Amino acid sequence: MTTLKTYAAAQRKRIDAALNRALPRAAVRPATLHEAMRYSIFAGGKRLRPILCLAAAEACGGDDKLALPAACAVECIHTYSLIHDDLPCMDDDDLRRGKPTNHKVYGDAVAVLAGDALLTVAFEIVATSEPARRYNAGDMVRDLAITAGSRHLVGGQVADMEGEGAGLGARELRFIHESKTAALLSCSIRLGAMSAGATPRKLAALSEFGQALGLAFQVIDDILDVTQTSAKLGKSAGKDEASDKATYPAIHGLLTRKAIAALKPFGKSAARLEQLASYLLDRDY
Ligand code: IPE
Ligand code: IPE
Ligand code: MG
Ligand code: MG
Ligand code: MG
Repeated sequence: MTTLKTYAAAQRKRIDAALNRALPRAAVRPATLHEAMRYSIFAGGKRLRPILCLAAAEACGGDDKLALPAACAVECIHTYSLIHDDLPCMDDDDLRRGKPTNHKVYGDAVAVLAGDALLTVAFEIVATSEPARRYNAGDMVRDLAITAGSRHLVGGQVADMEGEGAGLGARELRFIHESKTAALLSCSIRLGAMSAGATPRKLAALSEFGQALGLAFQVIDDILDVTQTSAKLGKSAGKDEASDKATYPAIHGLLTRKAIAALKPFGKSAARLEQLASYLLDRDY
């Protein structure tokens, strides 16, 4: 097996070439729109979701080339969600993938519309998938539509915004993370598996893998927002706390406060326990 770095670089190259073929050229009228779509798609994301899509096809014994349309589609939906996530009316961010955000370059209106167009083209692309043993393009389109819709990605984004300053608990946070992030990550894996004609049992197992991985991915994204620099992340760090977002570190901090509050009846005699609780929160290994 080649190293992950070599594998990921090679897959990224294939995915980028397929995206380049799938998206209208930048000169196609209206050029501003097509330029804006391409600007964010080729700004340099990790391509995690399409790579997982291809790897899931391989895990199910398929030719991962057949998963390329699905891989491109999930990256288009992901990129659309980032463009809209960064808008002034949402997270209001200036930096994404190491570059100025879409609306900073093209203005809010074109950024909204470039997002709309990337969301829409995703369905056009996935609809071109070859029918597989147990699934056809319609099955994939349906899964992708449910994932991107009001009960998952978009719903999660709304809950995320409504959760700002609301002091949410762990259950609500989990709902946000599962909806806004884990759903698309898991769907990326399912679509790859479908393109390889996975058995229902394998599809369910990979879906569960994706759901857990996606939840962990967003928890880590929340932690990186606190611990990393903007330069390293390619997006503005420290934004979650500034917006009073419901995040994993915020809730974790709240839990520590709750633990410390429970020591109140002990007064000074629990000073050591309190010190230990604070240490557990701040430890770095
Ligand atoms: C960022 O996703 C948004 C989240 C759901 C956490 P990525 O960390 O995969 O962003 P890119 O695609 O590499 O820019
Ligand atoms: C974004 O979550 C999730 C979606 C775009 C659907 P965040 O708001 O935490 O993502 P970043 O940190 O801006 O990449
Ligand atoms: Mg957000
Ligand atoms: Mg954001
Ligand atoms: Mg984040």
